[in-house]
Amino acid sequence: MSDMTPQALLPRQIITGKARLAGVLGWPVSHSRSPLLHNYWLARYGIDGAYVPLPVAPAQFAEAVHGLQAAGFRGANVTIPHKEAAYALATELDHTAQRAGAVNTLIFEANGAIRGLSTDGDGFVASMESAGHKPQGKALLLGAGGAARSVAAALQDRGLHVAVTNRTDARAHALAEALPGLDVVPWAMWEQQLGAYSLLVNTTSLGMEGGPDPMFRPSLHHAAPHLVVADIVYVPRITPLLAEAEQKGLKTVEGLGMLLHQARLGFREWFGQDPEVDAGLEAYVRASL
Ligand SMILES: NC(=O)c1ccc[n+]([C@@H]2O[C@H](COP(=O)([O-])OP(=O)(O)OC[C@H]3O[C@@H](n4cnc5c(N)ncnc54)[C@H](OP(=O)(O)O)[C@@H]3O)[C@@H](O)[C@H]2O)c1
Repeated sequence: MSDMTPQALLPRQIITGKARLAGVLGWPVSHSRSPLLHNYWLARYGIDGAYVPLPVAPAQFAEAVHGLQAAGFRGANVTIPHKEAAYALATELDHTAQRAGAVNTLIFEANGAIRGLSTDGDGFVASMESAGHKPQGKALLLGAGGAARSVAAALQDRGLHVAVTNRTDARAHALAEALPGLDVVPWAMWEQQLGAYSLLVNTTSLGMEGGPDPMFRPSLHHAAPHLVVADIVYVPRITPLLAEAEQKGLKTVEGLGMLLHQARLGFREWFGQDPEVDAGLEAYVRASL
């Protein structure tokens, strides 16, 4: 049988003394798919560059960022648990990062500035659009964690009316305070109120393999026939929530697209090429899951 590991699917990239450098800061970072997908693009476009995992403990975060900047890196992605610290460290913030209170992409500018972007929410919107579903109308988000913040901000920016529902009510209200215009629906009520929405997005870790409840399969009994159901969990590919939606004949959007699309902006800034999210990349990253 042929070797289908991601490493076997692409030739190794040659790196010269002029290589452009970027990486992903996390603690731990070994679970991150970002090195795979950025190095896929580097190989695909024949770019002289490298993207590396950077395991950095929270106490060393600022020191590590300034060290990377001093070493000539173009920037870095930031994952758990550093997204708020990156927000605090950035000297300039894009609109979504400002509203989300978190940064997942750092760009080191030639003049020493550190630009912070939040691309998760825009990545989510792009993944919906590439699946053929322009987000519109009223959206209900399950969850009020970090991912929910970014997705809610991006949807509001596109004129959607957004509501959140969360197991811990106080966290949903905190999000509503940060994002004016956001509604809060009690966790125990959302299934009955679902008929009022055109988009449902699971931004919790429910339904995720190895998560708090991998079997999470809420009732979509009250869903309107035009409801689009999206899940940002991408392991498994079809979560029980998406399976339920498919069974009801509703349109669905899988979570992997968000992961791939959120990476595009950073890649373009660091490596000077707008990379494509296509079936080859999706298959390559999926083979690693
Ligand atoms: N596709 C992508 O590109 C992408 C990007 C980012 C994140 N994600 C995925 O999104 C998920 C959330 O990430 P995050 O960074 O937002 O995490 P987070 O900040 O820790 O938030 C976790 C959310 O899940 C809820 N939750 C956890 N356990 C629960 C339970 N047993 N019952 C009900 N709600 C529960 C939490 O509710 P409480 O407030 O009540 O605890 C909270 O709303 C993860 O699965 C992550 O892998 C995917």
